[in-house]
Amino acid sequence: MNDLDDLVSQAERDFAAAGAPAELEDAKARYTGKAGRLTDLLKGMAALAPDEKKTRGAQINQAKQRIEALLTARRQALADAELAAQLQAERLDVTLPGRQRGAGGLHPVSRTMARVEAIFASMGFDVADGPEIETDWMSFTALNNPENHPARSMQDTFYVDMQDEAGRWLNLRPHTSPMQIRYAQAHARRHAGAAHMPDIRVIAPGRTYRVDSDATHSPMFHQVEGLWVGEAVSFKDLKAVYLDFVRAFFETDDVTLRFRPSYFPFTEPSAEIDVQFGSGPLAGRWLEISGAGQVHPQVIRHMGMDPERHIGFAFGSGLDRLAMLRYGVADLRQFFDGDLRFLAQFQ
Ligand code: PHE
Repeated sequence: MNDLDDLVSQAERDFAAAGAPAELEDAKARYTGKAGRLTDLLKGMAALAPDEKKTRGAQINQAKQRIEALLTARRQALADAELAAQLQAERLDVTLPGRQRGAGGLHPVSRTMARVEAIFASMGFDVADGPEIETDWMSFTALNNPENHPARSMQDTFYVDMQDEAGRWLNLRPHTSPMQIRYAQAHARRHAGAAHMPDIRVIAPGRTYRVDSDATHSPMFHQVEGLWVGEAVSFKDLKAVYLDFVRAFFETDDVTLRFRPSYFPFTEPSAEIDVQFGSGPLAGRWLEISGAGQVHPQVIRHMGMDPERHIGFAFGSGLDRLAMLRYGVADLRQFFDGDLRFLAQFQ
């Protein structure tokens, strides 16, 4: 091995020892730079005889080429290593499950409410919304349920620690019937003195409250009440409207209604409406779904109309109960537990 072979293998070790591009360039300068060892060797040739110069020059050139080849290879290796390190550092684990933004949706009771509203709207009913904190007069007295009357205990009412002008406690409305009074009063005022008053056709869906809690009762629940008052509205219309509603709501004609005599202070006669499906999981059972009746003359008066002229019917159905039957839910409280595993099933 001559001095040039030595130099080449030294350069190779030096280059290999350089761990970064900058170090490699420093090492390169020690060989091929202006003051590098190869450059020194070339300068040293000046002292040689012409024929020696030729062979020595060729050898030095060869050594230079080998060093340059080593340098290129090392540069490439360092660049490859750098790229590999960068790729490793920026590596994405594509097997990780993505962070998804869950799609929201409507609560099953809200869906049911929208569905009921759409069906009644298609039959020409308006939708009325109103206060959940009511006066004693609106919740009871106007509905022919006078103070100290035993019928008041049909609804275990929540009272609010606030009084109205008459000094009576306000209440969390135990039904949406007060909205029927409010709506009808406004309607009667608007048409006061007119030769003909258009019929009142309205539903009042919304939250209602009673001191009650078990699998089919919750202290907060939802009702949809309906009212149709005109000059020639009868029980026959109630039956037709309610049957149409039930068929549309449950998407079946295979359903029968039964009107059972009942009592409500605000209607006379009064009935409970039961449904029976001809097929499906609930087939054959009578299921109570609504209270109903012909609006009591006293209530017509409180609405601002003349019972000799105006007559109509009202009904009040449990919206949650309708949702339970439609979706096959056994415990009403599940609707209000806020458990997304339950709620997401209805999306
Ligand atoms: N308001 C009654 C209740 O909540 C339901 C009802 C409404 C009954 C209209 C008859 C007529 O129990």
